Formats: sequence, structure tokens, C-alpha cells
Amino acid sequence: MTQRYTGKVAVVTGAAAGLGRALALGYAREGADLVVLDIEPKGLAETVGMVRAAGRQCASWQIDLSQEEAIIRVGAEIVAAHPRIHVLYNNAGLAYGEINAMIDTVGMARWLHFLSVNTVSPLLFAQALRPALAAAAQDGGDACVINQSSMAAYLPATVYGVTKSALNQITFGMAHRFGGDGIRVNAVAPGLMETAASNAAIPEDRRAALQDGQMLKLHGGAEDIVELGLFLGSAAARFITAEVMHCDAGHRLRGWRE
Ligand SMILES: NC(=O)c1ccc[n+]([C@@H]2O[C@H](COP(=O)([O-])OP(=O)(O)OC[C@H]3O[C@@H](n4cnc5c(N)ncnc54)[C@H](O)[C@@H]3O)[C@@H](O)[C@H]2O)c1
Repeated sequence: MTQRYTGKVAVVTGAAAGLGRALALGYAREGADLVVLDIEPKGLAETVGMVRAAGRQCASWQIDLSQEEAIIRVGAEIVAAHPRIHVLYNNAGLAYGEINAMIDTVGMARWLHFLSVNTVSPLLFAQALRPALAAAAQDGGDACVINQSSMAAYLPATVYGVTKSALNQITFGMAHRFGGDGIRVNAVAPGLMETAASNAAIPEDRRAALQDGQMLKLHGGAEDIVELGLFLGSAAARFITAEVMHCDAGHRLRGWRE
């Protein structure tokens, strides 16, 4: 097994379950020490136990990423404890339930909440960790931020779609603003990936319809996103920034399928 992350630190948000937990375990599997964050403490503690069982160090912070003060405070604590951070994977997000409402059915307060978690917090958290990302990059290492987008960015009639579409734009802006420090910034746009949350929230017929729109008739899973995250976070991707990497079996081009 290659160990692309030995001596590196990876930070993963939304790591209490689903894709975030799988990503944390993926970076640990390849030698990284982890910092994991989530609003949900029980699942977060379980992830910490899993990473440690894999033989890696793991620190955790419970945080509500909709709160700017918490982002700044926790970010400073993480930088003090980990002066070099090689990967920040901004995976936390609201994806299920009310956020899938049509854009013209939601009032200002809810709009701002959804945007704060899905769109603005990845930027503010990266900004808080920027000194440690820059230090890792300047050490001759490679440092990067990965924002978890979605194929829904191309379905912008929903609030969720708009939050992820705007996150793609923020990713391009971050790549511009962070590039001077040698920090790469990319997004990953998953298609339908089977997680406990997506399986519970998306009815069977809707999942079948989404899969029917794919060019490949495959079930997507967390491991597909982990493999992409491992590549994007590694030095093998050192020339890749300001990119949205799709991992959706071709779903975004569904209108082109014969
Ligand atoms: N699973 C899919 O099919 C799919 C497809 C496209 C994009 N995504 C994106 O991938 C990410 C993970 O999805 P998942 O399926 O694993 O869902 P999930 O709900 O299991 O994971 C999201 C995590 O984010 C955390 N979170 C939510 N709000 C938070 C807040 N305010 N502060 C801190 N943490 C918070 C949750 O507690 C949860 O652990 C999300 O950003 C989602 O939009 C998922």
C-alpha cells in the first residue's frame, strides 16, 4: 500500500458520517494524521475512534460551521496545535430535507442559513487555517483545499443547487486568492453517492431516476470520492487548481445520453 500522506495533516469537516468519515479514514489509511470536525458529537467521536484504530493521530472539534465566531476561534486553535496542514477537505454541508426546496419558496433567514453552511463557511474556515496551509506549502510540500460541491450545482432551481453552484464560483475565487501562498483550491462534485444519509433521504424511485440519467449504470459510493480526494490532495495533483472535478458517472451531461 502506498503511503502518500505520511508526515502530513489532513483536516476534514462533516466527518461524523458519510463521505466525511470515509475521507478521514482514507487519508488515515495513507498515513495522514487527522483533524476532524462536525456539529454532531456522537458520530464525530466514533470517527475519532476509527482513525485511531487505524494507527493515526486524530484530534476533533465539535463546531457549528454556520457561526463565524466559532470558525475563527476553532481555526486559531487548530493552527496553534497543527502549524502545518496539507489538506483541508471542506465536506460538511446540508444536503437533505428542506434545503432541496425550490428557490422561490424559501425566505431570507433560511436562505442565509443554508448559504452560511454550504457556501460561505468553506471560505471562512480555509481563511482561518490559511497560515498553516501556507506554512505546509512553503515547506516545499503541497497544500490544498478541496470543497465538496455537487452535481446539483447544475440543477439550480433548488436552494441546494444554488448553494453548490455558488461554492464552485467561490472555489475559483479562492484558487485566485490563495494561489500566491502556493495553496491549490479545487472542488469535487459528486453525483449520487450511497451514504446512510442519501439512502435515507432520497426515495428509491428518485434514486433510480438519477441513476438513469448517468452515462454509466453504476452505483456511486463513498470510496469513489475518497479516491478522488486522495489524488487531489496529493503532490501528484500539484499542477491542478481552480478545477471542479466531477465524479458523477456522467450525470451532468444527462441530456446527451442516447
Ligand atoms: N451523498 C451524496 O450523494 C452527495 C452528492 C453530492 C454532494 N454531496 C455532498 O457531500 C457532503 C457529505 O454528504 P453525505 O451524503 O455524507 O451527508 P451527511 O449528512 O452524512 O454528511 C454531512 C455532515 O455535515 C455535518 N454538518 C451539517 N451541518 C453542519 C454544520 N452547521 N456545522 C458542522 N457540521 C455540519 C453533518 O452533521 C454531517 O455529519 C455534503 O456537503 C453533500 O452536500 C453528497
